[in-house]
Amino acid sequence: MKERLEALKVEALGELAAVGSQQELNELRIKYLGKKGPLTEILRGMGALSAEERPIIGQVANEVRAAIEAVIDEKQAAYTAAETELRLRAETIDVTLPGRPAPVGAVHPLNKVIQEIEDVFLGMGFTIEEGPEVETDYYNFEALNLPKDHPARDMQDSFYITDEILMRTQTSPMQPRMMERLKGAVPVKFISPGKVYRRDDDDATHSHQFTQIEGLVIDKGIRMSDLKGTLLQFVRELFGAKTEIRLRPSFFPFTEPSVEVDVSCFMCGGEGCRLCKHTGWIEILGAGMVHPRVLEMSGYDPEKVSGFAFGMGPERIAMLKYGVDDIRHFYNNDLRFLRQFAHL
Ligand code: DAH
Repeated sequence: MKERLEALKVEALGELAAVGSQQELNELRIKYLGKKGPLTEILRGMGALSAEERPIIGQVANEVRAAIEAVIDEKQAAYTAAETELRLRAETIDVTLPGRPAPVGAVHPLNKVIQEIEDVFLGMGFTIEEGPEVETDYYNFEALNLPKDHPARDMQDSFYITDEILMRTQTSPMQPRMMERLKGAVPVKFISPGKVYRRDDDDATHSHQFTQIEGLVIDKGIRMSDLKGTLLQFVRELFGAKTEIRLRPSFFPFTEPSVEVDVSCFMCGGEGCRLCKHTGWIEILGAGMVHPRVLEMSGYDPEKVSGFAFGMGPERIAMLKYGVDDIRHFYNNDLRFLRQFAHL
């Protein structure tokens, strides 16, 4: 019996030495150590042995079993390790691979300029108010001292929807709208940015839709010097501390007197260059003292309060500031144009 066990060991170890796969190893484990295997069979036959022989054969049988198990365990460990290695390799992430870029948007250059202007006026205690783009003839014209048949209406060719309703041609209708809302209370102090519409043919400096920022201040004792001081502070924050302003007489139906406001050229500092057409000055604003009729029509007493108003075009300011030569760039939404401002 001892010889059978030794032979079994030699045979098993021989076969195990030649094992070539996990599956073969599994088969050999069952073959030699399984319940129906030769070792079990031999151990079962031990009952027939004498009392002296039994422990000796038992020991040999255990040794053989242990030897076979040891080799199987060793091989199993190698297979497990190889398999783990394979899986890890398959799951390896190459952290040096460049990622897929996720495109990030940016604020439109026009909105950026509007936000900058808003910030300056917020800092001076103005609120920001928005109004409707579809407007009545009353707020867009009449309440601004532009009765029907007034020749100044021709300055702003309009998109009419009905006889009384149009796309607003300016943000100025926010003046009477806010005055009505505040019902004669002072101070009135707000700016109002928004889109406006005019029946213009689009070209490098005209767009049928563009933006404006309106401003209005009404209180007791507001004077032209308040207008000048406010606008000077504004342009210095927007264009730099050395900027100067110049007021030129002008005409708007809703202001009296009316002025056109120039800033000293921020490119050449007033020396004269291409940007300011060698004048040293650039026009950026319309403004004036609110016409007494306009105050009156919206419930304010021109004997008791006074005010100033101003209006500007963010496109023009953005074009000057960023050197943009065509207003249509702001509306064509060509990403090659827009991306140039992403970092500003
Ligand atoms: N609404 C005027 C325009 O579109 C701009 C303007 C000028 C607004 C003078 C004002 C102002 O408030 O005082 O041409």
